[in-house]
Parts: sequence; C-alpha cells; structure tokens
Amino acid sequence: MTDAREQLSELPHEQRIRSRKLAGGVATLIVDATGLSAAERSRVEEELRSAALSNDGVTEARIAMTATEPSRTLIAIGSGKGGVGKSTVSANLAIALAKMGKKVGLIDADVYGPSQPTLLGTDAKPTAEEERLIPVEAHGIKFLSLGQLVSPGHALAWRGPMATGALAKLVEADWDDSELLIVDLPPGTGDVQLSLIQRSRPAGAVVVSTPQDLSLIDARRAIDLFGKMSVPLLGIIENMATYVCPHCGEKSHPFGTGGAETAASEMGVPFLGRLPLSLAIREASDAGNPPAASGGAEAQAFEAIASKLLEAVAH
Ligand SMILES: Nc1ncnc2c1ncn2[C@@H]1O[C@H](COP(=O)(O)OP(=O)(O)O)[C@@H](O)[C@H]1O
Ligand SMILES: [Mg+2]
Repeated sequence: MTDAREQLSELPHEQRIRSRKLAGGVATLIVDATGLSAAERSRVEEELRSAALSNDGVTEARIAMTATEPSRTLIAIGSGKGGVGKSTVSANLAIALAKMGKKVGLIDADVYGPSQPTLLGTDAKPTAEEERLIPVEAHGIKFLSLGQLVSPGHALAWRGPMATGALAKLVEADWDDSELLIVDLPPGTGDVQLSLIQRSRPAGAVVVSTPQDLSLIDARRAIDLFGKMSVPLLGIIENMATYVCPHCGEKSHPFGTGGAETAASEMGVPFLGRLPLSLAIREASDAGNPPAASGGAEAQAFEAIASKLLEAVAH
C-alpha cells in the first residue's frame, strides 16, 4: 500500500488532520474540530471531502470530525452570604473579560435568588438542541440562569437533588467556543455549593465580601470550603468599600474599608481589588445596564479586577 500522505496530498486544513487512510478507493480522514462553531465545522468537513474526492483513485471520502470541546476554564464566584454583590460582580467581571477579547460564558447557579436575567436586562429564554441548552447572549457574553428555567420565586423550592440536576444542565449546555465560564454560585457553603463544585470542577474560585468583620467571617468559611475541595483560590474582591457622596464628593466608609485586603493577606490569598459602594452601580444594575458594559470609572474598576483575575488564572 502506498503512503496515504502521498496519495491524499494537497488537502486544506492540514494542521487539523490527525490521521489519513486510503484503502480500496475510500479515503478516511480524522479531523480535529476544536474551537470551531457548528457552521465552521461543516464548512471544514465539506472542503476536506471535496478536496479528498478530487484526488486520483478516491471514490469515497469519510470525514470524522472529533468532538473535542475547546479547553475551558471554569471560575466559581462565591461568597459567605447573600447581598454582598456576588451576582453584580460576576456579571460585570464576565462583561469586562469579554471586552478584553475573551469568549465568556456566565452561569447563574444561585438557586436561592437567580438574578442574572435582571442584571443583564433580558428575559429571553434559552432554546435547546438535542436536550442541550443554548445560552442567551447579552452585552457580549453568553449566559444561562436558573431564573430562565423556573418562574420567579420557584427556584427556592428545589434545593437538593433537583437543584443539582438543573445546575448540571446549565454547566453541560452548549457553551460553544467560550474559553471562560464564570459561575455565580449560591451564597453560603451548603450542599448545593458542594455538589456543584464537585461536578463542575472549577479551575479556580473568587470570593466576594464586603469590608466589615461579620461579612469577612462568612467569607473565610467560603474560602475554607474551596480549600477543602482543592479548588485554588484566585483571590478576594472587596465590594461596597468607599462611598463617594454624589453631592459633596466626600469619601466615607459605611462598611469600613480594607477589611478584605487585610483578611486576604492574613490568609495568604491574593487580593484582586476593591469596588466602591456606588449609587451608579446599584441603579445601572437594577435597570439591566451592567456598568462594565459602558465606559466610566465603574467600568474601569471592573476591568482592573478582570485583568488581575486573568493573571491569577494564568499562574
Ligand atoms: N458596589 C456596589 N455599589 C452599590 N450597590 C451595589 C454594589 N454591589 C452590589 N450592589 C447592590 O446590592 C444588591 C445586592 O447585590 P447582588 O449582586 O444581588 O448580591 P448577591 O449576589 O451577593 O446577593 C443589589 O441591589 C446590587 O445592585
Ligand atoms: Mg446573587
């Protein structure tokens, strides 16, 4: 048998061809489809088929596109308790990362209060293909939320196995070419968090806390949970730190400031940055206009944290 490489020469997409065979007029190619969208995949397949068929002695071409998923980094965003701005931070970090050129998906896994549809300003429902959910797009990111699957106020009723099953559907959805998946975890350190972390195996975790001691005690608990589950802690974000009076410009610290940074250094954990307590953040978030999507000081604050996060992921 002559070398298939000589007979099946001049094929396009050389760098994707993992193996080639020619026997009895049948050309068989195994092709790496990593990173291709469904449309690109069929285009590559067709181009290879017609190129193979144009070779002398080839009467049939079988093209196998391997179903490898792109390598994807999952980052869990947790907090010791609710109301510290975990969802706000998750949404805006996802958008800031997308603005930096990353392909980003966001999973709203908060069974107790899924809020991403509100924060991202869309109540569009995801479609499904062969039982796989197709995420909704908003502000340059893809996202899925438990809030899209149940009516408001109903998620609370299905903690435990039902919640775990629904969360698995979100993680296993068609995230296509997303490189980063940000997961907005439910607040706290209970069973739902535990099984979600076990199943989705995040590459790293971020903990959001407000600066006051009471919040930090809870944040430490969240950090312990990630430690016990061997999920590397990428860092802590301090939210609702400095308040700048919109009238006189005076800075004050209603929840204190620096608490999270101190706690981070005590625990030997990276500090990713601090976000101000800002009326603009609250108003824009409630209105479904994530501040990171527009310009201004708030967007810059999220971008600064996003680039620190990328550095932490790369290490
Ligand atoms: N830095 C901030 N400045 C002002 N309001 C904020 C800030 N971060 C969050 N909020 C507001 O606090 C409330 C709780 O935030 P949310 O992200 O839903 O918290 P969590 O997900 O931790 O429960 C929301 O109304 C949100 O708009
Ligand atoms: Mg939330």
